[in-house]
Amino acid sequence: MTVRHFLNLSDAGGDAIAAMLADAIDRKAARAAWPKGRPDADQPLAGHVLGMIFEKNSTRTRVSFDIAIRQLGGSSLVLDAANTQLGRGETIADTARVLSRMVDAIMVRTDDHAKIEEMARYASVPVINGLTDLSHPCQVVADLLTVIEQGKALPGLEAAWLGDGNNVLHSILEAAGLMKFNVRVGTPQGYEPAEEIVAWARANGAQVTLTNDATEAVAGADIVLTDTWVSMGQEHTHNKLAAMAPFQVNDSLMSGAKGDAKFLHCLPAHVGEEVSESVFEGPRSVVFDEAENRIHAQKSVLLWCFGKL
Ligand code: CP
Ligand code: NVA
Repeated sequence: MTVRHFLNLSDAGGDAIAAMLADAIDRKAARAAWPKGRPDADQPLAGHVLGMIFEKNSTRTRVSFDIAIRQLGGSSLVLDAANTQLGRGETIADTARVLSRMVDAIMVRTDDHAKIEEMARYASVPVINGLTDLSHPCQVVADLLTVIEQGKALPGLEAAWLGDGNNVLHSILEAAGLMKFNVRVGTPQGYEPAEEIVAWARANGAQVTLTNDATEAVAGADIVLTDTWVSMGQEHTHNKLAAMAPFQVNDSLMSGAKGDAKFLHCLPAHVGEEVSESVFEGPRSVVFDEAENRIHAQKSVLLWCFGKL
């Protein structure tokens, strides 16, 4: 079998994403109220080791993958890139080939997406994208799970994205194409998502609307999503905050969405910037379900990579 890398959602495709979501729902229900470190009854990845490389900070991705592989019966080790030979200039190609002899899968968080593609080219074990500047597919599997838990079907869902056209949005757009939902994207001019990803989503059946009007973006939405206005590694773009201000998700903006609309945020949040405290802490917010769901979603990603889904 060819090695199953998970660099973007389209590597798996819509049917596999649906299978991941169904499995995540089942596994989550089967272990409700169990201690978090206790393995699932079937331990489908017993004996497997996940290596994780971080070139950027992380809380959720790091902890959720660690707990996910443990719950599947395996174990993990974390490599902070700065403390490895990778941080001293050893090539990605050599690192990929060495780690492939030592661990069963590699999760990477890095900046340039080309780096993870290179890792996948040389690795003989699955490589998983734990966030690049281009995309954050693991996050979006958790987002889709959270939406389904709220009783909302994915096909035909109306999603609104507010703020920066960033990596998380790119994976939402990819998901929209795969799972057939619609996205209205409200960004300031100049902060739109990558054209080729918008085109891909549209070509795959998603209706994608780009607007510079925040009110238009949220009108009638089933879910409203946002993220930090300044992603990791883009701190030099800090002067964009003024342009972003009208896109803050606050009560006034949320009142334009459907009455039962939910608010999602991948976290970490900057309350008072991209989201008001009233929305973040309010009854429509499902951000901590979303964070927990990283574990359940990442288990499905791992199982798919190992050919178990
Ligand atoms: N949402 C997310 O990926 O969080 P971390 O940066 O903490 O991993
Ligand atoms: N867009 C954010 C997501 C953090 C999980 C970033 O790349 O920093």
